[in-house]
Amino acid sequence: MSESLATVSYIGATMLFILSLGGLSNPESSRRGNLYGMIGMTIAVLATLFGPRVTVGGISWIVLAMVVGGSIGLYAARMVKMTQMPELVASMHSLVGLAAMLVGFANYIDPAAATHLTEAEKAIHEIEIYIGILIGAVTFSGSVIAFGKLSGKIGGKPMLLPGRHWMNLAGLLVVIWFGREFLHAASINDGMAALTVMTVIALLFGIHMVMAIGGADMPVVVSMLNSYSGWAAAATGFMLSNDLLIVTGALVGSSGAILSYIMCQAMNRNFISVIAGGFGTGGGAVVSSGAGAQPAGEVVPVSATETAELLREARSVIIVPGYGMAVAQAQHTVYEIAKHLREKGVNVRFGIHPVAGRMPGHMNVLLAEAKVPYDIVFEMDELNEDFPETDVAVVIGANDIVNPAAQDDPGSPIAGMPVLEVWKAKTSIVMKRSMASGYAGVDNPLFYKDNNRMLFGDAKKMLDEVLAALKVG
Ligand code: TAP
Repeated sequence: MSESLATVSYIGATMLFILSLGGLSNPESSRRGNLYGMIGMTIAVLATLFGPRVTVGGISWIVLAMVVGGSIGLYAARMVKMTQMPELVASMHSLVGLAAMLVGFANYIDPAAATHLTEAEKAIHEIEIYIGILIGAVTFSGSVIAFGKLSGKIGGKPMLLPGRHWMNLAGLLVVIWFGREFLHAASINDGMAALTVMTVIALLFGIHMVMAIGGADMPVVVSMLNSYSGWAAAATGFMLSNDLLIVTGALVGSSGAILSYIMCQAMNRNFISVIAGGFGTGGGAVVSSGAGAQPAGEVVPVSATETAELLREARSVIIVPGYGMAVAQAQHTVYEIAKHLREKGVNVRFGIHPVAGRMPGHMNVLLAEAKVPYDIVFEMDELNEDFPETDVAVVIGANDIVNPAAQDDPGSPIAGMPVLEVWKAKTSIVMKRSMASGYAGVDNPLFYKDNNRMLFGDAKKMLDEVLAALKVG
């Protein structure tokens, strides 16, 4: 393939990636968006493989690597459960970071990489390598820790070291100092020493950054690491002088940054404060977490039959799904219930919180999988005013996103986070297995409100019983 044909293919792939991102911004066009992305990536891979920069001997190595990587990817995608998707995404981000690091080192020690460059070009190339490895290392270690936190292998509680901001600042200064040493290195060995010191500091910074972030702020971290992985890819593109990689990396980097901003707004957080860490902790105090959170008060349990009765008598119902619906895989039964009620003339709508579940759009994906029509799925802001006129609000495996403490308790770790105001409905029914707290590890006063009922049990099992009772009645 000639140079010009490869360039045209790259431009075509870039346009398809942009169309893909546009498509992914709306559930209705997201399938099309995915298709554009797949076609774009196929063109990009083929144009690279048969492009002027790959020798015939090199193709077999690339194909071998693609077969190995593709098989692992296929296996992981087939085996992963929907609830493990965020961990999988985090581990993918870590691979992008690792690739950027390895390409950077390989590029530096490759004797052919800089021979044709002038002094100024060589300096720019070395800056690209230094920054590329830096971003790659932070992305790699940060994503590994995020993987651990999302999969529960590492506790959600933030690790707040004394003087952590000063430590970060000192690390930054050392990185800048060694950057100077790297640029003035007399030999590859000297340069490698500076690169190695910087890489170790960047790896430690990535670990420290994500360890310091509280459970409630993990959504921002996930999208932020997504952004970093894009910048790491763009940096790799600069090192390899590959325009497509630069553009694609920049697209991922900037869209991830926008997503992080949206997440921060959805949680009423300041982006810089999230990065600085410590939120989700009650301002440094350790909050109760997991099954250990047992706030005082009386709750009113209901049975599946009583729940069916309340739903049958309602004229308007809002269903709020959360992480528990994903765990129980209850989305199909939820839709069966919604369909049944709609056939009886009940106005049924779904309310989606931007950080419900464990990844952006988690609930939308599940509801789309169950074929819930998009016109009855609403964002939090579109629906929150309607709760006072709603007869029954059904909360399915959600907790933090319906916690009134976010509004009422300024000392709460999730204070200020906008929530779905289900307690304003005439009756709210919370479906979960126990009194355990949610991801942020904070107590939920909703459970003790007079108009709230608790339907204890696995969401899928309980909803099956509710559906059966509805059909009998
Ligand atoms: P959570 O607050 O985590 O609450 C989920 C609830 O589901 C738990 O309290 C749990 O209670 C219940 N549950 C678990 N398995 C269940 C099952 N099989 N059947 C019924 N209930 C079950 O979820 P949420 O309300 O969706 O809020 C999301 C939280 O995750 C927020 O704090 C958010 O910041 C965080 N987060 C979000 C993201 C993104 S990007 N969306 C990423 C990382 C973290 P029981 O154990 O008592 O059943």
